[in-house]
Amino acid sequence: MKVLVLNGPNLGRLGTREPDVYGRTTYADLVELCEATGRELGVEVEVRQTDFEGEMLGWLHGAADEGLPVVLNPAAWTHCSVAVRDACSQLTAPLVEVHISNVHKREEFRRHSYISEVAEGVIAGLGVDGYALAIRHLAATA
Ligand code: DQA
Repeated sequence: MKVLVLNGPNLGRLGTREPDVYGRTTYADLVELCEATGRELGVEVEVRQTDFEGEMLGWLHGAADEGLPVVLNPAAWTHCSVAVRDACSQLTAPLVEVHISNVHKREEFRRHSYISEVAEGVIAGLGVDGYALAIRHLAATA
């Protein structure tokens, strides 16, 4: 079994990006956390990040074609991208939406997600632990 962990714009800058909001865990640490969780569960985990929407759409199309479960942090696309949502709608295996910060106690515009309605579940505000929890859930159920 394989789980794809896909990250949207600015998440490659974790560790230095607004550490009071997103913590000091670097993107490299996040990749290691996800891979270690996969190793523990006996599941292959592949982690990717892009600042380009078309690249993300291609990865989601690939996941749809291969029937792969996805952990997605859509980052800013959460709140504005119908295209990312439409690509998520094509997935055949479960999708878990993850946010490092609690988007519900921040600015008003972060409270609406285009993705949540097409996700199996949403984890927000638990820091990078949310990724490990999402992988654990998919490994157990997908
Ligand atoms: C985020 C929350 C989004 O509102 C923001 O645009 C991000 C990161 C999070 O992980 O908390 O880039 O998805």
